[in-house]
Amino acid sequence: INKGNGVKGLSELGLKSMPNQYIQPLEERISTMIMSQDSIPIIDMSNWNDPKVVESICSAAEKLGFFQLVNHGVPVEVLENMKEATHRFFVLPAEEKNKYSKEHSPSKNVQYGTSFNPQAEKALEWKDFLGLYAYEDKDEVSAFWPPVCRDEVLEYMKKSEILTKRLVELLMRRLNVKEIDKAKEYLLMGAKRIQLNYYPICPNPELAVGNGRHSDISTLTILLQDDIGGLYVRSNDNDSGWIHVPPVKGSLVINIGDALQIISNGRYKSVEHRVAVSSSKNRVSIPIFVFPRPSEMISPLPEVLESGEKPVYKSVLFSDYVKHFFAKPHNGKTTIEFAK
Ligand code: SIN
Ligand code: FE2
Repeated sequence: INKGNGVKGLSELGLKSMPNQYIQPLEERISTMIMSQDSIPIIDMSNWNDPKVVESICSAAEKLGFFQLVNHGVPVEVLENMKEATHRFFVLPAEEKNKYSKEHSPSKNVQYGTSFNPQAEKALEWKDFLGLYAYEDKDEVSAFWPPVCRDEVLEYMKKSEILTKRLVELLMRRLNVKEIDKAKEYLLMGAKRIQLNYYPICPNPELAVGNGRHSDISTLTILLQDDIGGLYVRSNDNDSGWIHVPPVKGSLVINIGDALQIISNGRYKSVEHRVAVSSSKNRVSIPIFVFPRPSEMISPLPEVLESGEKPVYKSVLFSDYVKHFFAKPHNGKTTIEFAK
């Protein structure tokens, strides 16, 4: 009955309780989560070059690995259109969405799927997604993206480009990197993947997760979330509780990924996060993952090691790192061990 319509199809059956495969082990359930008293900083980017703003961004990247930005320069209308386009894709009939499934997709740059790694997961994630991979600004990259959301995605990616560059530049300045030349650009932001996440209404949100605990493998991630909420970040103090990232109208959530932790020799932190689902609303979120090019070797920057600091990470080929991440289920911040 649910064939090919993902978790959305399941959700629409109106079941009183969800199928067993989605029931998380006790320690992974949202209901057993300890809440932290901390909060995620909200930073106004209007004067992005002001030393105080630079300081708040860099120190948030060092401590929590997560922050929210307002007045970031991406027009609110572009964000609204992006969220609407996401809903438009997921309400398409199953046969339309399935044209983009792993088996049928016309291009490796587009993939519709459900959960994260269904073959390897003990308990499935309550989520459907559309992943769009953009390694270059070329028309052929987006040629096979679904028409219901293609223009909106391209516009969102284009309009967030300046922000990405600014953030990378500010974060690098703190590491003594003065200029982002072509080589640094490939290393820090040579590829992108945008993901349209859809977390359908769930009859048992306390037993489920939308996204299990993980850290991103990106350099940084720019996340657009709607007004429903459900993203939780691991706090860095000893209570190891979870901090909710409250939806703030017009904002973007930024988080540091493993690649930047490695490149900065641990100065910037990628942080574990997870997503709860709702019993009353279909939530969408749209992360743009800013990656090194797959062919890049990533390792702590010479600029960081200049002062005699010992490298904490070895050099790894980024495409190997990516493979390693996708080969296992979400299981906390474990991929980075691969670079030790
Ligand atoms: C993610 O961690 O990839 C998704 C975050 C979210 O849905 O808020
Ligand atoms: Fe994530």
